[in-house]
This record gives sequence, C-alpha cells and structure tokens, in this order.
Amino acid sequence: MRRPLVAGNWKMHGTRAENTRLVEALIEASDEAPCDVVVCPPHVYLWEVGRQIKDAPIGLGAQTVCAEAQGAFTGEVSAAMLKDVGCQFAIVGHSERRLLYREDDTLVARKFVAAHAVGLTPILCVGETLEERERGVTEEVVGRQLDAVLAVAGATAFARALVAYEPVWAIGTGKNATPDQAQAVHAFIRARIAARDATIADGLRLLYGGSVKAANAAELFDQPDVDGGLVGGASLKADEFVRICAAAA
Ligand code: PGA
Repeated sequence: MRRPLVAGNWKMHGTRAENTRLVEALIEASDEAPCDVVVCPPHVYLWEVGRQIKDAPIGLGAQTVCAEAQGAFTGEVSAAMLKDVGCQFAIVGHSERRLLYREDDTLVARKFVAAHAVGLTPILCVGETLEERERGVTEEVVGRQLDAVLAVAGATAFARALVAYEPVWAIGTGKNATPDQAQAVHAFIRARIAARDATIADGLRLLYGGSVKAANAAELFDQPDVDGGLVGGASLKADEFVRICAAAA
C-alpha cells in the first residue's frame, strides 16, 4: 500500500504573517490527515515555516533547487542549503520552471540528481501542454521527461522520489484533468518505471497536479495510480487544503 501524500506548492505567494496563520491552521488539522502532508513555501520562508512545523507531522519542500553544488551562481540555492534549513523535499521540473525559465529535460535531470544526492526527496513534475495533448503526443512528452531523469539517476533513485503528473493546461486554469485522463497517464508513468524496476514502480507515489480542489480531490485520488496531489492555488486556503488532504483517505 502506498501512503497518499498531498503537497502544497505555494508558488510566489504569501507573507510571513499569512504563512504563520496558514501553517497554524494546518498544524491544528494535521493529526487527522489520512496522508503525508508537505508544504512548499518560497525559499525565503523555508526556515521560518520549518521552525513552525517542527513538531507537527508536516513535511517541508522547496519549489526548485540549483543543479550545482556550490560556487559562483548568484541568486541560486543549493540542495545542501535546502537540507540545511530543514527541507525534506524539492520540486524539480515544475512546468513554470520549464516554460518561464527555460529549464530543459537535461537541467531538470541534473536538479533531480543534486537534490537526491544530499538526501532530499525530489518531486519530479512532468506533463504536456494543451497543444501537445491535442496533437496526441502526451505519452511521448511525459516519456521523454521521465527518460531524461532515468538516464542519469537510474530507476533505483525512484525508491526515494515522487513523480507529479501536472498537465500544463490544467495548472491554475480551474480545468482539471478528468479522473480517467489522470489515471491513464499515471498508469503510463508507472509502467515506464516498471520496465526498469517493477518493485520500485510499485512503491512509487504518483501525485496529480492541476486545479485540484476540495470538490474534485476525492474522485482524482480514488484512481488506482493516483497517490495524492500537488496543489497550487487551493493550498493557500487552509480550509480548502485541509479538505483536500482529507480526501486522500
Ligand atoms: P494549481 O497548481 O493547483 O493552482 O493548478 C498546481 C501546480 O502548479 O503545482
């Protein structure tokens, strides 16, 4: 049995005061959560949020990580630094990083390896654009994104990693993938990993992301290969996020 996990990707939102209130509410509800819960605040707030959740069953994740270990990379934050301030997880390859900051498959794979190497659990995001879905190349795109990481990290690295399927057309649009659409791609992802290592594929948690909200979470999480969610907008509202976590039962 794979224990579900729900991660909140706050993106570039929040203030110290707002974070404190949000995390307070999450801590209050955390004992009842039927899943692992992770919050991913912006880098500058990681330390403070990490302090706040210290004794609660809530994990801490970063939204991105530098592929380099250290050196003259102005503005970047290394995996070791993220670990040092209390992170257990790091999102890599989010579509906003891929599209807005031109992170390609090779760079995403290097970020995955950098995070994994220091003991973080990478949350590898994959997913197709609307144009790619309409052209019928969803599996080709997702397969290519996965293979780039498998080629450098190997399948065994996925014993400590998560994959989040996030169709780009569903992110922040209010238009989620249907449970069937999500399940189909999740099954494809699991099979792709299973071709290399069936045991690791079986234990690998696959998250769905893209307009997850309390109203659609249960039907998505009910799918056999959907093991939780990566939640953007709805993770900023405590009530909504708590209800999404509850739907992972
Ligand atoms: P959304 O974002 O839930 O706001 O669609 C999901 C994500 O980008 O991780």
